[in-house]
Amino acid sequence: MNTIVITDHEFAHFQRFIYTAAGITLPATKKTLVGGRLAKRLRQCRFGSYGEYFRLLMSGQAAEEVQTAVDLLTTNETSFFREPKHFELLREVAVTAHDRTGPFRVWCAASSTGEEAYSIAMVLADSLEGRAWEVVGSDISRRVLERARGGHYIAERTKNVPRPYLHRFCLKGVGAQEGTVLVDRALRARVRFFQVNLDAPLPALGTFELIFLRNVMIYFNNDTKRQVVSRVLSLLKPGGYFLIGHSETLGDMTTAVKQLAPSVYRKETA
Ligand SMILES: C[S@@+](CC[C@H](N)C(=O)[O-])C[C@H]1O[C@@H](n2cnc3c(N)ncnc32)[C@H](O)[C@@H]1O
Repeated sequence: MNTIVITDHEFAHFQRFIYTAAGITLPATKKTLVGGRLAKRLRQCRFGSYGEYFRLLMSGQAAEEVQTAVDLLTTNETSFFREPKHFELLREVAVTAHDRTGPFRVWCAASSTGEEAYSIAMVLADSLEGRAWEVVGSDISRRVLERARGGHYIAERTKNVPRPYLHRFCLKGVGAQEGTVLVDRALRARVRFFQVNLDAPLPALGTFELIFLRNVMIYFNNDTKRQVVSRVLSLLKPGGYFLIGHSETLGDMTTAVKQLAPSVYRKETA
């Protein structure tokens, strides 16, 4: 089988494509990665070059294929209880929340395959027994959203789930499902997943006590970051908390929230 090599010119097309579709900036160092991620799709579609595939994406007749390309070009690395300090904070905020007029709502704004949203849900189910709460998960990738809704994982991926939560909220696969874990149906029902592009006007999702926007801003340039942060923060309630990835920072991007600790911000109470 001949390997098709992506040229600099073709790579530049895909840089532009994913920037326009998702606000993602791909540095030149990602050329091999992009070639690798799209290679299988090229073979499946029997294209002889990356340029041909790009022309299909630009034809205006291939919306499904555009989504597939976005799915392939996004990085979806995640895990249960990643950066665990945020989940301690979540518990603290949830149990001390005074506003009991509506459900306690948390948005996981780049939820990937769902591990982060279900981690949030486990903490809320445990700490807010008897109170209304809900978790909204969202992502631009349709492929990861399908996996998130399924809530079905390789057991190895649940190694960071605290043991009591594992017993309470996860079903161990047996027989043909051996080695997998299914998030319990009742917990899955409390988490709704939507396709949302953070680099575009947001749909009506309501407002939230806490927003997790973790490990996605690293893919945006400063302009995009600023716009995404402003959009996302418009859905944070006064007094609400905003959590970003541990390797990320807001710098002087916004005055809508005050930094409490690295990666933890809060909106002023009204
Ligand atoms: C590295 S994962 C982070 C997942 C999770 N938040 C975490 O910290 O474990 C980044 C996710 O952001 C999503 N993403 C990238 N650009 C996006 C955009 N413009 N709108 C919404 N989601 C986006 C990707 O599809 C991917 O699933």
